[in-house]
Amino acid sequence: MALSTPQAATLLQQGQVVAIPTETVYGLAANATNPAAIAQIYALKGRPSHNPLISHVVSLQEAEKHGVFNQIARKLAQLFWPGPLTLVVPFNPASGICADARAGLPSVALRVPSHPTAQALLRELPFPLAAPSANRSGHVSATRPEHIVADFGDTLPILGEGPSPLGIESTVISCLPNSPPTLLRPGPLLAEEIERALGQPLAHSHASQPATLHSPGQLASHYAPKAPVRLNITQLHAGEALLAFGPGLPPGHSAQTPTQNLSPSGNLLEASQNLYSMLRALDAQNPTAIAIMPLYGQPAGMLQTLHNRLTRAATPK
Ligand code: TXA
Ligand code: MG
Repeated sequence: MALSTPQAATLLQQGQVVAIPTETVYGLAANATNPAAIAQIYALKGRPSHNPLISHVVSLQEAEKHGVFNQIARKLAQLFWPGPLTLVVPFNPASGICADARAGLPSVALRVPSHPTAQALLRELPFPLAAPSANRSGHVSATRPEHIVADFGDTLPILGEGPSPLGIESTVISCLPNSPPTLLRPGPLLAEEIERALGQPLAHSHASQPATLHSPGQLASHYAPKAPVRLNITQLHAGEALLAFGPGLPPGHSAQTPTQNLSPSGNLLEASQNLYSMLRALDAQNPTAIAIMPLYGQPAGMLQTLHNRLTRAATPK
C-alpha cells in the first residue's frame, strides 16, 4: 500500500507501523513513545525483545531531548548528521522513548536520517520514530519497496519508492561514559572518516566477543538469504548462483548460471548499493548456494563494511 507523507504521519500518530525510506535501507517505523506500537514492530519482524531499536529524530536539538551527548557525541552529530550515523548514548530520563524500544537498556540509539522523505515525515511528527530495518528478523535488509512486500505482504503501508541511495545500514558508534568511542557496526560512514574527524582511533566491538551484548544486534548470523552463502569463491559449483564483482567470471560459470554483478567496474560504493537487492534476487531462484566472488579495492572502510555484511550472510543460522 503506497502512501503520501501526510497519510503516513496520520497512521503513525494512530499508533500504526509504517515502512519508511531512509538513505541507508528502508525502516519499519512506529511512534517510539508508544509501547503498543513498538510491540507491533517486534511482532511483525519476529525480532527478539532484547534487541533494541534505533530512534530517528529530525535534528541534534531533538536528539538531545532523548540522549545525553558528551563532547565526542556532539562533535560527531554536528559533523555527520543528517546522515548514515547512529549514536548510542546514555538515555535521557526526560525522554518519552519507551523502555521496550530500548530493550530496557540505560542507553539509546539515535539517528538523524538525511533522506528528504524521512526528514519531511519527522518534521510533521511530535515524537521520534523507532525503526529497525524493514525485513523479517535475520533476513536481508530491504532496499526497495518490493523487498518489504516480499517479507511482510502487501497490506503493510509503505511510504516512498525506489532504491535506498546507500543500500547498507548506518554506522553505529557508542559514546558512553567510561569507555572510548566504539564502532559497534561498520557502515556507509567509514570508520577512517570518523577517526580523522575525532583525531583518535575508535575502539572496535567484535561479534565474537561477549561484549557484543553491548549491541545485541551484533549477532553473528544476520542479513542472511535462505540459500547458504559461499565467500571468496574462485570456482563455481553446479546449481549455484553467482554474485560477481569486477569484470571477470569464475570457471564453472555458464549461460544458465543465475548471475548478478555487484559492480562490473569493481566500485565498492556501487557494490554496497546493490548488495541486498542482488542477494534477494539470486535467493529467489532457489540456488543450492550463492557463491560470491572476492571483493577488493578502496576505500578500506567500505571493504570492511561489505566484509562485515557478507560474513554475516554466510554464517549458518
Ligand atoms: O540504517 C539503519 O541504521 C537502519 C535505518 C532504518 O535507520 N536501521 C537499522 O536498524 O539498521 P536495526 O534495528 O536493523 O539495527 C540497529 C542496530 C542493532 O544492531 C541494535 O542492536 C543496535 O543498533 N542498537 C540499538 N540500540 C542500541 C543500544 N542502546 N546499544 C547498543 N546497540 C544498540
Ligand atoms: Mg536490521
